[in-house]
Amino acid sequence: MKKINLILILIFAANTMVQSQNTNDEQPTPPPMPQFTPEMFANMPPSMLLQMPVEFLENLPVEVREKMPKLKAENLAKTPQMGWNSWNTFATNINEELVKGIADAFVSLGLKDAGYEYIVLDDGWMAMERDAQGNLTPHPEKFPNGIKAVADYVHAKGLKFGLYNCAGSRTCAGYPGSRGHEYQDALKYAEWEVDYLKYDWCNVAPIRETADKIAYAREAYSVMAQALLAAGRPVLFSLCEWGDNDPWKWASFLGHSWRTTGDISNCFDCIENHGTWNSWGVMQILNMRDQDVLRKAAGPGHWNDMDMMEVGNAGLSLYENQSHFALWAILNSPLILGNDIRNMSKETLAVLTNKNIIALNQDTLGIQGFRYKTINDSIEIWAKPLAGDEWALLFLNRATRPAEFTFDWRTAQISDAFFNKEILFSDTNVYKIKDLYAGKELGDTKKPLKAQLDKHQSLVIRLKK
Ligand code: GLA
Repeated sequence: MKKINLILILIFAANTMVQSQNTNDEQPTPPPMPQFTPEMFANMPPSMLLQMPVEFLENLPVEVREKMPKLKAENLAKTPQMGWNSWNTFATNINEELVKGIADAFVSLGLKDAGYEYIVLDDGWMAMERDAQGNLTPHPEKFPNGIKAVADYVHAKGLKFGLYNCAGSRTCAGYPGSRGHEYQDALKYAEWEVDYLKYDWCNVAPIRETADKIAYAREAYSVMAQALLAAGRPVLFSLCEWGDNDPWKWASFLGHSWRTTGDISNCFDCIENHGTWNSWGVMQILNMRDQDVLRKAAGPGHWNDMDMMEVGNAGLSLYENQSHFALWAILNSPLILGNDIRNMSKETLAVLTNKNIIALNQDTLGIQGFRYKTINDSIEIWAKPLAGDEWALLFLNRATRPAEFTFDWRTAQISDAFFNKEILFSDTNVYKIKDLYAGKELGDTKKPLKAQLDKHQSLVIRLKK
C-alpha cells in the first residue's frame, strides 16, 4: 500500500510540473523529474495505469515502462504477430469453407512452418443483430456450424484463431459493435476459444468528437482490455483506431499492437478516394506518421501495425511486393497476410515465406528500423539493428525509373541514438553482406556496394561479422 501511495505522490508531482510549465512561462526551471525505477511500480495493481496521465506514461524511461504491470495477457507477441486476415481480399464475403481452406493452405504451403500462426476473421462474421439475451451470434448462412467449429478446425492444425469487433455501437460494415457489451462479448470469445481480437473504431460518436479524444479512445480500449483479462483466456489484443488518437503513447499498456494509419490499398504509391474516406498505398502508409516517434513506443509485446499486407494482390508488381514485405519486416509491423493464399503465384509464396526477410521482423531484439538517409534523390535507406550486433539495411528505389547507386561504407555513420546502437565500418571492422532476396553473398564492407534497382525495387541486406 505504501508503494502505491508513493507512486501517486510521484505522479501528482510530475503532473503538477507539467501543468506549471504550461500555465506559467515565467516559472523558474522546474525541478528535475524524479528518477523512476521499475521497483517503484512492482506491486501496483494494473488498473492503476488508467489513473496515470498519457503524458506521464509516455515519458517514463523504456526500462520502467517495459517492467510495469500491464492490462493485457503477458507473453504474447514477443515478436510481431504473423497470420492472415480476411478483409483485404474478401471484405464481408467470408464463411466456414474459406477459413478451412486457409487453415489447410497454411499447412500445405509451408506458411505455418515459416511462422504464420493466426487466422483472423475480420468484419462480417456475425448475424446483423444480437440474440434476445444480447449475445453475439455467428452469421447463420456463413457459419452454419457456429464459430467454435471453425476455431476447433484451426486449432486442430496447430494454429490460432482470431475475430474482429469494434469499440462503437456498430462495426464499420454495420454489424453489432461491442459498446456496452464488452464483458459479455469477451466471455463469448473465451467460450469459442478465440486467441486474437482486432478491435476497430467506427460508430464511436459522440466519444470520438470530445475535447479529450485521446483519453476517450484510451478508455474505450481499456474497457475491452479489462473484459478480455476478466474472461480469463489469453487473447492478443490488436487495436485498430488508425492512429487517430496517438495510440503509440498509451496502447502498449493494454494491447499488443495498434494500427498507425487508415486502411491500406492494393497499390504501391497512390491514394484511393472513397468519398468520405481514403485508403492508402504502401508508400503513403510508410510516410503518414513520423516513424522516428513511433519506433520509440514499439518493442516485444507491443508493435506499430502498418495494416494487413497487400502482398500478392493485383496492383503490385513482384518488386513492389518484395519492397512492401521487407518494409513491414524492417519496421516490425505484424506480418498479416491479406491475399487469397489458396490461389497465389509461386513468386508471391516465395516472397511471403522468405525466411531471411521474416527473420528481420522476428528478431528477438525487437527494435523497429529507421530511415537512415536518401541518396541519389530516390534511393531511401532503412536500417535495423539486430540481435548479436548484426544489422539489416534496405535500399528502396522510390522512383518510377531504374536507378543506380554506390554506397561507400567508410563514409557511413549509422547509429540509433534512442536504442543506443551503432555500426562502424573500417578496414579492421568488416562485415559480410548477404542479399536476402537473391539469397547470395555480396562480398564485404571493405569495398563500396554498387547496385542497380528497378522501379520500386529494394535491395535488402544483412550485415554480419
Ligand atoms: C476498418 C478497418 C479495416 C477493416 C474494416 C472492416 O476500415 O480499418 O481494417 O477491419 O474496418 O469493416
